[in-house]
This record gives sequence, structure tokens and C-alpha cells, in this order.
Amino acid sequence: MSKETIHEIRQGMKFRPVLHALTSNPGVEMMSYAKGKENLISMAQGEGSAPTPDFICRAAYNAMQDGKTFYGQTLGQDPLREAISEYYKDIYELYIPASRTFVTASGSTAMHLSLASLLDKGDEVVAITPIWKNLLGAIELTQATTRQVSLDYSDDQGWTLDIEKLFAACNERTKVMLIVSPSNPTGWTATQDEMRTILEFARERGIWILSDEVYSRLVYESPHKHLRADSFLDVAKPDDQLLVVNSFSKSWAMTGWRIGWIVGPAAAEEKIRDVALYNNLCPPTFSQYGAIAALKEGEPFIKNQIDLWRGNRDLTVRRFDEMGKIKMAHPSATFYGFFKVEGQRDCKTMTKRFIDECGVLMSPGCAFGKEAVGYIRMCFAISERRLTEALDRMETVIKKL
Ligand SMILES: Cc1ncc(COP(=O)(O)O)c(C=O)c1O
Repeated sequence: MSKETIHEIRQGMKFRPVLHALTSNPGVEMMSYAKGKENLISMAQGEGSAPTPDFICRAAYNAMQDGKTFYGQTLGQDPLREAISEYYKDIYELYIPASRTFVTASGSTAMHLSLASLLDKGDEVVAITPIWKNLLGAIELTQATTRQVSLDYSDDQGWTLDIEKLFAACNERTKVMLIVSPSNPTGWTATQDEMRTILEFARERGIWILSDEVYSRLVYESPHKHLRADSFLDVAKPDDQLLVVNSFSKSWAMTGWRIGWIVGPAAAEEKIRDVALYNNLCPPTFSQYGAIAALKEGEPFIKNQIDLWRGNRDLTVRRFDEMGKIKMAHPSATFYGFFKVEGQRDCKTMTKRFIDECGVLMSPGCAFGKEAVGYIRMCFAISERRLTEALDRMETVIKKL
């Protein structure tokens, strides 16, 4: 059956109208475009190229052998909730009791459960953009609407937040402020002062803060004892209307394991549990034992990865400077370069040119919000050798412009 026929039949079926109205995902579109092309270097997916370290795999395997293959507790196994609490004590110097940690089947699920707990049709979310497209899609599914507030860009300061612009976007329908810090795709990271100001504003208005801190350990410098970004938890009270989303995917190379967590106020535990129960019942049981090993023994691995990615970041910045015609804020966090090619406004066309003319796959900026048009995102968390090859190839295209 042809794609067109399937499309026509689908339009006639009674799916929820919101599904027919979902905005498209240009990142996925570009991956389909590149599918099957030979000798392609992909820097489109947001993950490191290293496999999950052995000590994590072994812990999960031992758990399987130990019979941890059944349904588990809806908000996670107690030993993992305890380990997350310990992790906040060791790395953040914060006391977060295990009862305020809710384990989920990935950061994406953490986000869906949080949104499903808070949003109804007619509610509004104010989101700082550019932002990972899936988060906008997740909001669309709840039938709430999103107001996008874009970070500002300047050549000397990179990406910055105009807090007044953020506050001006809030109104009586605003239920949630969604903040991704460090940000995918820009690497922008909120300061503790900004977090405090946003939190005070949200408190006065009864607005929830949904803070995506999935990249919190993926920073190249930090004022803290351990390498980590500031967290809303640093400035919050235990009963603030704050949900912090995190994940094992990025820092511990566990994207396929589907394990994440939420930290929320004690009063949210029962509500999140209700939604999780009717959603996927519980996170994967044996994955959670891998996650415990990650938290307890993972610091040297995180450090090695960051050293590798710092080198890749510096290499990318240097090569872009040498090539000219490319503008990119120096990323001080995450493993993404978010850049513009001078004179090229249509990011999809430019992304296709990189695929067709040099076999390098990246994500077009229009996947990250309406003001990100014209940019391209590359994930530089690949080997230095592959990255060098990708940059050499990109240079051949840049030279032709
Ligand atoms: C900002 C952000 N939040 C959440 C996620 C989802 O992570 P997970 O693999 O845990 O679903 C990603 C993945 O790219 C992300 O970039």
C-alpha cells in the first residue's frame, strides 16, 4: 500500500484530533531523508558513542540472575530511590529524602508523567526556547498550549535569558514554566540568581516550575565541588511547586536502558504514582540495578567522558573559527554545537546539503522552536577521529559557499 493511501485511510479514522494536529519533527524528517545513505557520519542523535560501561551492565545482569525480572514498585525500587537520595547528598550537598524521588522509565517518561499530572486543555506552558522538540510535542499531547520565550543571542555573550520577557509571557492561564538547563540545543545554563528570581516569581503566581536537568552533569566548568550545573533544588524549599526531571541516559551512557527520575515535593508523590500506575505500571526492574551501580561507582566514568567531550568541543570551536562563515556560541555545557552558517537562512536546506554533499547528518534548528530557524545542531560526543573526519567533510561544503 502506498504512503499516500495509508495517509488517506488514517485521516478517515477517528484518532484524537490532537494527533492529527501534532506539529512535525524536522529532526526525525532529516533522519528519514538520510536513511540508507552510505558512509554517513551521524551527529544528529543526542547521545555519546561509548557503550554503557561494564560495571553497570554487570550489575543489571546480576540483578536478572537474582530474579529481578518481575514488576517492581511503581515509583521505583527502594534501593534506587535511596541511592538517588545519597547522590544528591554526595554530589549536590543537598538533603533530598528518598520519598521525594520518583523513578521513571526514562527522562522522557518523567516529563510526560509531570505534564500529565499538571496540565489540562486550556492551560498554558511558558517554555524557554530553543528547546528539544520532544518536550514541545509532549505538551501538545496534553492539549495545553505553549508560549515560547526565546533566549537572546549575541556574538560576545552567546545565549542569554531576558527574565522580564519570560515573566511578561505569563498570564492567569500559565500553569507551568518549563526550563531546560543546561539547554539542549544551546548549552545555555541558568545561573543560581536567575533560578532564584524565577522561583520567587512562580511562587507568587502559584505557577509550577518544571526543570529539565538531564544535562546537569554535562558541564565543562563549575563553581561546585563536583562538576555539575546549578539546580533549582539549590534554591528551592522542599514544598515548592517544583518538579525536577533527570535521566541516566546522557552522563552514564544509558540511553537504551530507559531510566530517569523526578524530584518533587512530598505532596506530589501520590499524584505522580497515580499517573505512573495507569501509564506503565513501573520502570524496568533490572535496569534500576544498573542505575544504582551508575550512581555509586560512576564518577570516574563521568570524568573521562567530560574530558573527551571537552577536547571535542575545543576542536569543534577551533575548526569552525578557522573555516569562517560559521557562528556558534562557545558551549560551556552539553555535547552540542548549535551553529549558523553565514548567509544560509533555511536550516533544512543546509542540513540536506551536508547530508548530500559530504555525508554528515545533523539536526536542523527549526526542530528546536520557532526562533531557532536557521541554526543546525551537531552532537560532538563521538570519537575524536570521527569528529575530525566530519569537520574535514563539512569544510568542503563551507568552502563552496
Ligand atoms: C532536554 C532533554 N530532556 C530529556 C531527554 C530525554 O532523555 P531520556 O533518554 O531519559 O528519555 C532528552 C534527550 O535527548 C533531552 O535532550
